[in-house]
Amino acid sequence: MTRQTETLEAALPRAVGARVTGAWVPIRNLSPQHRPRISDHLLALNERDRLLRFGMLATDEQIRGYVDHIDFERDLVFGIFDRRLEVLAMAHLAFEPAGDQPGTVVEFGVSVSERARGRGYGARLFDHAVTHARNRGAKTMMIHIARDNTAMLGIVRRAGADVQFDGSEAVARLLLPQDTLGSQIEELVGHQAAEMDYRIKMQVLRLDRLRPPCLRQLADKL
Ligand SMILES: CC(C)(COP(=O)(O)OP(=O)(O)OC[C@H]1O[C@@H](n2cnc3c(N)ncnc32)[C@H](O)[C@@H]1OP(=O)(O)O)[C@@H](O)C(=O)NCCC(=O)NCCS
Repeated sequence: MTRQTETLEAALPRAVGARVTGAWVPIRNLSPQHRPRISDHLLALNERDRLLRFGMLATDEQIRGYVDHIDFERDLVFGIFDRRLEVLAMAHLAFEPAGDQPGTVVEFGVSVSERARGRGYGARLFDHAVTHARNRGAKTMMIHIARDNTAMLGIVRRAGADVQFDGSEAVARLLLPQDTLGSQIEELVGHQAAEMDYRIKMQVLRLDRLRPPCLRQLADKL
């Protein structure tokens, strides 16, 4: 049993833990089954992060309401998981339902757990969202950012977004290029690889649960 777990763990990419520049990061599509894990991630955000993420000091109740109302059929939600399948980072790409051409404007929101910041996850999720948005025919990506959110402003500026300041807020608009065969293949390959990574992690967790508790505690300390 232990050997199986070790073999599966060895198959997992080493990305989670250090700055991931250049390394592949598994980003998985989230679905309604992930609502509890999404809630856990968002509820762990401190007051300042809630303000930055939601533009308001969201209460626990408001966060639960937000998670309950995510429309997984209309929107795209992505996540980066750790080995325990806790959400380390997530992004929500909301397809605007209104307007003459529904779905051509998408709104991006992201959060990275405090313990996982500075590893490039925020930037990776943004790039991932750009690929998915253009593959679905979106033309513009909008991001609401607090004026003093240096990290997020850095991410959108690096992508070439136009940033307009209004008081303590900024709105970034990124014009999206049309999809190509390359962007479609990128999405497909990334999706399949992230799916496999998720299944391996799930299998490792299952096997881990079968270990006697004393061995599990020992493994956690190593
Ligand atoms: C904004 C946020 C998503 C960034 O996530 P992250 O994974 O730490 O960011 P990255 O590691 O990808 O870094 C992105 C860029 O910001 C820079 N950066 C990261 N943390 C920074 C900080 N505290 N101050 C200044 N710059 C910072 C990085 O150097 C990097 O710049 P580079 O590409 O030039 O190297 C994260 O801080 C967060 O979740 N904040 C709370 C919620 C929020 O602000 N959401 C955005 C509004 S939708």
